[in-house]
Amino acid sequence: MTNPSLTSQEIVDLNREYTFFSWSVQNAVAPIPVTKAEGVYFWDADGKRYLDFSSQLMNLNIGHQHPTVIRAVQEQAASLCFAHPALATEPRGRLGQKIAQVTPGNLKKTFFCLGGAEANENAVKMARFYTGRHKILARYRSYHGATSGAIALTGDYRRLPAEPSMPGVVHFLDPYCYRCPFGWTKETCHRECIQHVEDIIQYEGPDYIAAIIMEGVTGSNGLIVPPDDYWPRVRALCDKYGILLISDEVMSGWGRTGKWFAVDHWNVVPDMITTAKGITSGYVPLGAVIVSDKIAGYFDDKMLWCGLTYSGHPLSCAAALATIQVYEEEGLIENAARMGEYLAQRLAEIKARQACVGDVRSIGLFAALEIVKDRASKAPADMVEVGKALRANGLFTFIFRNILFVVPPLCISAAQLDEGLAIIESVLQNRG
Ligand SMILES: Cc1ncc(COP(=O)(O)O)c(C=O)c1O
Repeated sequence: MTNPSLTSQEIVDLNREYTFFSWSVQNAVAPIPVTKAEGVYFWDADGKRYLDFSSQLMNLNIGHQHPTVIRAVQEQAASLCFAHPALATEPRGRLGQKIAQVTPGNLKKTFFCLGGAEANENAVKMARFYTGRHKILARYRSYHGATSGAIALTGDYRRLPAEPSMPGVVHFLDPYCYRCPFGWTKETCHRECIQHVEDIIQYEGPDYIAAIIMEGVTGSNGLIVPPDDYWPRVRALCDKYGILLISDEVMSGWGRTGKWFAVDHWNVVPDMITTAKGITSGYVPLGAVIVSDKIAGYFDDKMLWCGLTYSGHPLSCAAALATIQVYEEEGLIENAARMGEYLAQRLAEIKARQACVGDVRSIGLFAALEIVKDRASKAPADMVEVGKALRANGLFTFIFRNILFVVPPLCISAAQLDEGLAIIESVLQNRG
């Protein structure tokens, strides 16, 4: 339990001396010592309030400290904290059933794990078992987790220091319209990005490819919303070549885009959905691989070579059931769609006023501003000072390279969005 008598400096010092911080040169970290939170805000140990514009790590979808989820975890802890993964429990069974109801099409059966990377690693194993093939196609501008297998799927630069990692992964280019890798504009586009996927399938040999994995909407690599026909056409390619389609909805799932899952926008049913984050809103760890009834049936009489001590952890399953109850009872997914439209409008206005905003992209409450040195060259801006100024002004958000994210809890109001956007605009303006 946290010792409340520690000063903010003591909290930071202990954390820095005895624990590692992710993705950081350790001497460079300057963490906020967070001590309490509520709704869309959290406070540091000195009482400074921050507006949470990234739902912590794009996972705290229902907002901080929701009493329904706290109570569910407390009640589950009081009755059964843990059960061997080979035992059956009520929260695990009920959660599996609920997930089958909210996921699209024939997605039916869930393998539980603890986070997004584990979900993707287990999905890859299941795809390889089911198809008897070994190659996996993934995109360059993607993040699928940091464990050895998941980092191999990840296409961005975080993969490079970890190589060689899991063999058999081949990357392909993204439908990144602002910086089209094929040199087209929206007006001249012929969807070379989709032809490119088929070319890669042909070069790699369709009979060797188990699955294509893509984020429902690309998150940390720049909030890349694909053209409307992209997912359906990749689905058709997978059907043509007998390749499984995996939607990584770790970040884009659970209402973030204004629908349960991002693929729902395009009425696409993938063969598997991997997810984590918003499934429990981060209150306790949980990840999931949800597979079609056909894939589930394959394992009816064959061994599932997957296992984790904490698969189906009762506390996690109880938290997820309560989180889904909150999404439904409080209409948070509908709010994400409504507030998403408002946010898109406000971001377009900011872009019109601020020349350093090269592009704004959003779907639901999943949004980002791409900050450039100038619009003609699209040269990425340096964001170090922007990050510091936002934090000094009480706004907490995620910045990846030159991309500034707006991914608040789904319970946010228009007034709270305005509050954060005003801070962002003043910081962008003052940056010259
Ligand atoms: C799309 C996506 N997939 C997978 C992961 C990995 O999830 P975790 O950090 O829970 O392992 C993330 C994390 O940000 C993600 O955004």
